[in-house]
Amino acid sequence: MLKLDLADFSLEHFMAHYWQQKPVVIRQGFKLWEDLISPNELAGLACEEEVVSRMVYKQDDQWQAEFGPFESFERFGDSGWTLVVQAVNHWSPEVAELVKPFAFIPKWRLDDVMISYAVPGGGVGPHIDLYDVFICQGSGRRHWRVGDVGNHRQFAAHAALLHTDPFEPIIDTELLPGDILYIPPGFPHDGVTLEESMSFSVGFRAKSACDMLSGLADYLIDKDLAQHLLADPHRPIHTHQGQINSADFARIKAHLQSILDNDARLADFAGSYFSKNKCALDLQTLDDEPLTVAELTKLLKRQPLVRTGGLRCFYVDETVAQGVCYVDGERYVFGPEFKDAVITLCDNDELSFAAIKGGLQNPDLVRQLTEWVNGGFWYFRD
Ligand code: SIN
Ligand code: CO
Repeated sequence: MLKLDLADFSLEHFMAHYWQQKPVVIRQGFKLWEDLISPNELAGLACEEEVVSRMVYKQDDQWQAEFGPFESFERFGDSGWTLVVQAVNHWSPEVAELVKPFAFIPKWRLDDVMISYAVPGGGVGPHIDLYDVFICQGSGRRHWRVGDVGNHRQFAAHAALLHTDPFEPIIDTELLPGDILYIPPGFPHDGVTLEESMSFSVGFRAKSACDMLSGLADYLIDKDLAQHLLADPHRPIHTHQGQINSADFARIKAHLQSILDNDARLADFAGSYFSKNKCALDLQTLDDEPLTVAELTKLLKRQPLVRTGGLRCFYVDETVAQGVCYVDGERYVFGPEFKDAVITLCDNDELSFAAIKGGLQNPDLVRQLTEWVNGGFWYFRD
């Protein structure tokens, strides 16, 4: 298993002084690094329909971006381009291992592992991300410059590339295999490859209130909730026809606020919203007929079930006492006696018979587990 080594500082120190605050280079965060995927395998993924990938390069001094799937890469030559592949942890169990050393951040904050392969001179240009990212340098060397947060102008260098103006670096360094560059959202950065190189970016998404409110509105519409109208019985006589007075403003605010004050509903929204995936999953199709409940239990006694890479499963403290969990955007309720089973299911990438044994007493849970396996969400390694 990959082990994160923070060398000069503890995890507590990192969280207190850097996380969400300032960028930092963690030298040899991964000792004896070996790439978790080869450039050829990465290129192969970029040829797949379901995988999100893009090529970034410059032509006649103009930035260009092309989206996959690609058929071949020969026409790009041997310098000045980067191939970026999104959510590789969904497609490669080896790459999914890179999420584990970052388990000090909960999974609901995780976005994906994005990998780039670049040839000398390649880079995606100076830009600002809305993510916390740990850029883990794989094979090869890369020169990174990171600027301070500030009022940086952003502009479309190409329809698909939001760049930022040149910036003064507060970090200006070369990363070697095993080094990690942590960058919080908002800090401009630019990486240029010095030699053929791979970068493994573990990104953590931070949602805006606007994103979440839009998700909440979708949730309420889907579930046909919060349809009751704002009511104003015993309204006093109004004198200014054009006015929304303070009492009315307070009423409007309270009506909206009542949605946010409903903790059980909001917990339900949070669970389903954050367990949705933006990228396709590698659903593990079965070679044979669908499993029966009895077959699943028998197989589980022999080997653990593995969750397919990137599948998001959460419980929320507010509702877990009822045995509620959220898997891939859907809500499941297994009852209060199965709270521990729900926690085990969501907290672990692998489920052994011993760990989930209590949960198997619940016929609904075994049936659901069987359905998940038949649907490819969990699988047996062989
Ligand atoms: C890259 O790996 O090429 C880009 C990573 C980033 O700047 O976020
Ligand atoms: Co970036």
